[in-house]
Amino acid sequence: MAKFSLPAHSTINEGKTFRADGAKRVKRFRLYRWDPETGQNPRLDTYEIDLDKCGPMVLDALIKIKNEIDSTVTFRRSCREGICGSCAMNIDGTNTLACLKPIDDVKDDVKIYPLPHMPVVKDLVPDLSVPYAQYASIEPWLKSETVPPPDKERTQSVEERAKIDGLWECILCFCCSTSCPSYWWNGDRYLGPAILLQAYRWLADSRDEHQGERLDNLEDPFRLYRCHTIMNCTKTCPKGLNPAKAIGEIKKMIVARN
Ligand code: SF4
Ligand code: SF4
Ligand code: FES
Repeated sequence: MAKFSLPAHSTINEGKTFRADGAKRVKRFRLYRWDPETGQNPRLDTYEIDLDKCGPMVLDALIKIKNEIDSTVTFRRSCREGICGSCAMNIDGTNTLACLKPIDDVKDDVKIYPLPHMPVVKDLVPDLSVPYAQYASIEPWLKSETVPPPDKERTQSVEERAKIDGLWECILCFCCSTSCPSYWWNGDRYLGPAILLQAYRWLADSRDEHQGERLDNLEDPFRLYRCHTIMNCTKTCPKGLNPAKAIGEIKKMIVARN
């Protein structure tokens, strides 16, 4: 997976250390902490965890820290099996899902930051209002004038259905968009790889009848064409998807119709 430098934060102070005295297999977790209500700079707190008393994934350690050591640590999580996308964060320099990241994959201290270049709500929780509004802007639902059959669902051939494989699996974790330099610098106008992959998911769906309107909505120097094929998005996707390819397919559709 791609590793990349985190964007410059304001000064990050050294915070508190919570020791695991008497533990034989100790792992140190270094967590980004920031509470807007204190008005203080962010800090890195260090939590020592006894690996003999912890599950195997980074999310297990975070839950243990919150439950047993410091209840003020704030992060999102829900499914703990790579389905909901809510535990996306930057672990050891890579955007990924805490619930799918084995602790043993990280050789040294486990450094955990929120997804880069997003406003932070608190600690490891990014503010995702902008990408969610961008998601709404692509109208991510089936649009068709054809009346569905009265007694069954709209059908697709096996080949038609296969065209949305590699797209429907996206869990909107935004690991890709927040690893994309173009999104870092133009995230207010560029839709970013997650939303563009979702846009292509509907363009590729044989049941949808609004292809032209969807392409009109994307054909814009900022919304689509800020992608410069740097490929960070595809390298970082924890679900193994290829948003860069989806973006390329949208560009091909636009060329083909012009
Ligand atoms: S390929 Fe495009 S979307 Fe992906 S990281 Fe590069 S610029 Fe961003
Ligand atoms: S393409 Fe991958 S990294 Fe991007 S939002 Fe979807 S699942 Fe997450
Ligand atoms: S908790 Fe749902 S993806 Fe990690």
